[in-house]
Order: sequence, then C-alpha cells, then structure tokens
Amino acid sequence: MSASVPAAVCPPKRILLGPGPSEIAPRVLAALAAPTVGHLDPYFLRIMDETQQMLRDVFRTQNALTIAVSGTGSAGMETCLVNLLEPGDRAVVCVNGVFGTRMADVAARCGAEVTTLERPFGEVIPADELQAVVRKVRPKVVGIVHAETSTGAWQPLEEISAAVREVDALLVVDCVTSLGGLPVEIDGWGIDAAYSGTQKCLSCPPGLAPVTFGPRAVEALDRRKTKVRSWYLDLQMVRNYWSGQSRAYHHTAPINMNFALHEALRIVLEEGLDARFERHQRNHRALKAGLAAMGLSYAVQEPFQLPTLNAVIIPEGVDDKAVRGQLLNEFGIEIGAGLGPMAGKVWRIGLMGEASSPRNVLLVLAALEACLKAQGRSPQAGAGVAGAIASYDGRA
Ligand SMILES: Cc1ncc(COP(=O)(O)O)c(C=O)c1O
Repeated sequence: MSASVPAAVCPPKRILLGPGPSEIAPRVLAALAAPTVGHLDPYFLRIMDETQQMLRDVFRTQNALTIAVSGTGSAGMETCLVNLLEPGDRAVVCVNGVFGTRMADVAARCGAEVTTLERPFGEVIPADELQAVVRKVRPKVVGIVHAETSTGAWQPLEEISAAVREVDALLVVDCVTSLGGLPVEIDGWGIDAAYSGTQKCLSCPPGLAPVTFGPRAVEALDRRKTKVRSWYLDLQMVRNYWSGQSRAYHHTAPINMNFALHEALRIVLEEGLDARFERHQRNHRALKAGLAAMGLSYAVQEPFQLPTLNAVIIPEGVDDKAVRGQLLNEFGIEIGAGLGPMAGKVWRIGLMGEASSPRNVLLVLAALEACLKAQGRSPQAGAGVAGAIASYDGRA
C-alpha cells in the first residue's frame, strides 16, 4: 500500500459520558451499515413514514409535520427559527447558557428583532419574568432551552408555555438533551415547535435533527409573506418530501442515518418512555449520591438538576484538564469540560440514552477517585461507589 494512504479508520473504544455524542447500541450501528437504497425507493419512503410516527410518539404529539431534518441539532434550531421568523418579526429568547445564546444569534440572523431574557448560567428562567417581558415586547416567537447542556439546568416548561400563550406567541423549545431521556410533552404542554438531535438521549450518531411543528406553527409558516431565508431548511419544500402524495425530491436524504434513527427510535419505544425516564433518574440519583460521598457537588440547585447532564463543581486546586485527560487515556472515559463562563469550573458528566447505566455510574465514580488521588486528594477509598450502590439499593 502506498505510504501516503492513511490507515483505515479504527477509533479507540470510548465510554461516552460527556455532553454528547452518547453511547450507541450495536443494533443502531448495524442499521447504519445496512445497504443504501435510493432516497425515493418505496422501502425508504416506508422507513420515513415509520420514523415520523415514532418521532411523534417520542415527542408525544399528533403533529403531522414531524420529521428528521438532515443536519445536527443546530440545523433543527435553524429550521424552527428560520421558518417561523421573517425579517422585522419580534422574538424573545431566553438565555441562561450557551445554547440559549446560540438561539438568540440564529434568531437575529433570521432578521428578527431579538430581545433576550438573561439569567446567570446554571439558573433557570422564572415564568413570571418571562411573562413580564412578553407582555411588554409582544413577540411572534419565544425560544427557550429545555435541557441546557452547557450548564446542566432543567427548565420547567408548563408555566412558560402559559405565559407565551397569553400573548398569542409561538413557543419554540430546544429538546436536544431531553428528548428520549426526560419527559417532553409537545401537545400536553402546548409547545408550538421543537427540535432535538440524534446524538444525545436517542443514542444515535450525530447527523439528524428531529423537528416537530404544531398547527399554530404550520399556520405561521403558511402565512409567511417572504421566502424562508434558507433554501435547505425551508419546510414549505422539505415537508413535501416527507409526506403527501408527491414525495418530491428536495435534497438527497442521508439514507443510512435515517436507518440508524429508525432503529434508535425502535429501541426507545421498546423500552417504553416512562421506563426510560425512570432509568435516567435512577442513574442520575446514584451518580449524585456517589459524588456527594466523595465531597463533590452540583453547579445547579435542586430541583433543576438535569438527570442527563450532571454539571459537577471542580474542587479548588484540582487540574480540570489533567483529570479529564487521565479519565480518557487511562480509563477510556470521556466527560465534558465546562463551557463559556463555566469553563474550568465544572465537569459535565452525561448520562444519556444507552450510556445511562449502573455500569457507567460505578465506573466513572471509581475512575474519578483514582484521578482525584493523582491530584493529591484523598477521597475515602470506595466512598463514591459505595454511595452509588446505596442509592441503587434504596438506602440513600
Ligand atoms: C441544548 C443543545 N442545543 C443545541 C445543540 C446543538 O446541537 P449540534 O451540536 O448537534 O448541532 C446542542 C449540542 O450539544 C445542545 O446541547
């Protein structure tokens, strides 16, 4: 073989406990490797129909316009905002982390007049504050993040939705780190549009963005006076590929990613949503008990700590990078660094989808103990693992 040809891809085996991507089931990887068919092949159209129905089940919605956008979670964000906002429209975006900040940026790029409602990273948005802002601004769209992956904060949505409804605005919710791991009730909570990503609690590789538009959002789409400012993400065209008689070509769908999502959704629904949410909670509680037994605490207050993303305060004097490096190099465990103002202050331990398991909880606690020892700390031997086991046994 020529010396200039690089070696074949052979990634190291990692335990993915960062902010995403998460672990992927062998069944999903097998679906990814299935033979490719054409993007208008009747077989693929059937897979698309089934995927849409499973996405409706997971989003808990009847919304006809529920699809997997070709692109990562950020493409889902852009899809929602670019289709609902026209230049000059008013938008209120809640900013309490990196992804709220990104939403505000995207809304502004759509030509909207953006008002931000800001809270410090790690806090959630109080519904009464949002109510005051939307009463004043009277926006067309309100954007908020359900599970702020950058901070580990879990945003309650029911009162937020009521405040948005009161002023007849459209509520857009980022469900990237919640869908498939925490309850998401699109219809029950009156959410008009939402997006997610495949690589978090759905445990599929990154590459697709589940999106759902409710009747009020579809009406806003149909009433637009100007063309959607993105050709690729224009739902007025993309929806014709996903449904109806014409199934007209728009772009070549990433066929095998859709196979993978189909299999990932089958796994989610086989487990059952409620059982899945309970599993995420149980493993989060055990991790938290173990961390507490090691003297480590969370950056977010109760009851707003995400089960899917645990933002843990790095003890004073401990070398953030060295610990993450040791976890990766010695134990094959990936955890995330802090982002934005939380950089260097927290570790982000994801327990998402397949990765949310007792095995991973006990493993990361034991490995973290070794890393803290290497940092000159002396956590009580086995305390983290014992704390987690006590939680699993119902003793903590
Ligand atoms: C809450 C949230 N929103 C949006 C995104 C963007 O998704 P992606 O990186 O898949 O484009 C992420 C990614 O981590 C996220 O956590």
